[in-house]
Amino acid sequence: MWKPGYLPLLFVASILQTPLVASMRAVTWNLRFDSRPDNIPVSQSLASLGDPLQQPAFLNGSNERPWSTRRLRVAEHLLGEGIVLAGFQEALVRQVNDLAELFGSEWSWIGVGRDDGVQAGEFSPIFYKRSAITLLSNDSFWTSNTPFEPSRFPGAGSFRICTAAHFTLASEDGPRNFTFLNTHMDDQSDAQRRLAASLLLTRARFEAVTTGGPVLISGDFNSPSTGGDSGAYSIITGAAPPVAINATFAQRFSVPDDQLPDFKMIDLRGQAPRRAVSTNFATFTGFTAPNDASDWTRIDFIFGGSNLGWTVDAYKVDPVLADDGALASDHRPVFADINI
Ligand SMILES: *[C@@H]1O[C@H](CO)[C@@H](O)[C@H](O)[C@H]1NC(C)=O
Ligand SMILES: *[C@@H]1O[C@H](CO)[C@@H](O)[C@H](O)[C@H]1NC(C)=O
Ligand SMILES: *[C@@H]1O[C@H](CO)[C@@H](O)[C@H](O)[C@H]1NC(C)=O
Ligand SMILES: *[C@@H]1O[C@H](CO)[C@@H](O)[C@H](O)[C@H]1NC(C)=O
Repeated sequence: MWKPGYLPLLFVASILQTPLVASMRAVTWNLRFDSRPDNIPVSQSLASLGDPLQQPAFLNGSNERPWSTRRLRVAEHLLGEGIVLAGFQEALVRQVNDLAELFGSEWSWIGVGRDDGVQAGEFSPIFYKRSAITLLSNDSFWTSNTPFEPSRFPGAGSFRICTAAHFTLASEDGPRNFTFLNTHMDDQSDAQRRLAASLLLTRARFEAVTTGGPVLISGDFNSPSTGGDSGAYSIITGAAPPVAINATFAQRFSVPDDQLPDFKMIDLRGQAPRRAVSTNFATFTGFTAPNDASDWTRIDFIFGGSNLGWTVDAYKVDPVLADDGALASDHRPVFADINI
């Protein structure tokens, strides 16, 4: 029964509680760089797809297929999942361009080649669907000792980069701003990964303090959450102290000591309702799947900042082995349904 006396209370409750209704499906996926270029255009791959009513021939997997074979599977998988935001790793510019073509004109992307800050080398690009997400600003920094110039950390196998963006997610209750950082840490240097995690944590805290909104990080950390190589994960989740970073970077992204002093990033896999977290755990399977699981590890993550402003409805890691025996990548896509 309607009781007028409750009205003021309901009103107070509704202004105190920020509604969490803006939802998006996001993904992080290391696409494996195009190590076997064959110059086949997307249009030709599409034209040579088989009769959809015929069972495909068995290719016998357990090895790497050219990107020209893998890219249609990547696009089919992601568009079928209804994603609106993607952080990719290891994409060469031709792979970025192919995905832009396959995703179509409703999508845009940001990012630069890590070797020259333009188009050379692998990108850690961010793709977003413009009907849901609007880009406000973006930049890139290198996870090295000289973060504002294309550079490699001493001892690292490659130049390493982070793509950073401010976005707005459209919702019925009005636009919601959020920050998204996407990166790929080094495969050889644990010191690089620890530095990268420290730089990202500094930047993420700065964004949390200065925007007051949610901060998300996705990436291939090239190291797991436990064991001897887990330094980067330990640092970003606040379980271990950060290492010293470049002073110019620290200055540019400094905040007062008393602002979110214990800020850290929270692993979204542990935040979704348990029934909505996929059984699949490993995110790297190599091209040996499904026969040899000895190298399988969980090294690809999505995090949310400890200042919150987000919740997670579901979290899953999808297999990428098709009936014809071919794998779309040596990593699996990691999906999160995020409300902000
Ligand atoms: C796939 O290739 C491996 C190695 O060449 C072979 O041992 C296996 O029998 C093949 N599987 C099928 C289903 O053809
Ligand atoms: C995103 O970054 C690119 C490369 O630096 C730049 O050209 C572009 O203007 C940026 N877009 C926005 C909206 O900040
Ligand atoms: C910090 O990074 C800036 C910009 O990349 C660079 O100019 C500066 O030399 C770096 N500082 C040190 C101590 O390496
Ligand atoms: C979102 O960001 C835009 C651009 O920086 C800003 O004008 C707007 O006030 C922000 N909205 C909120 C709710 O913070």
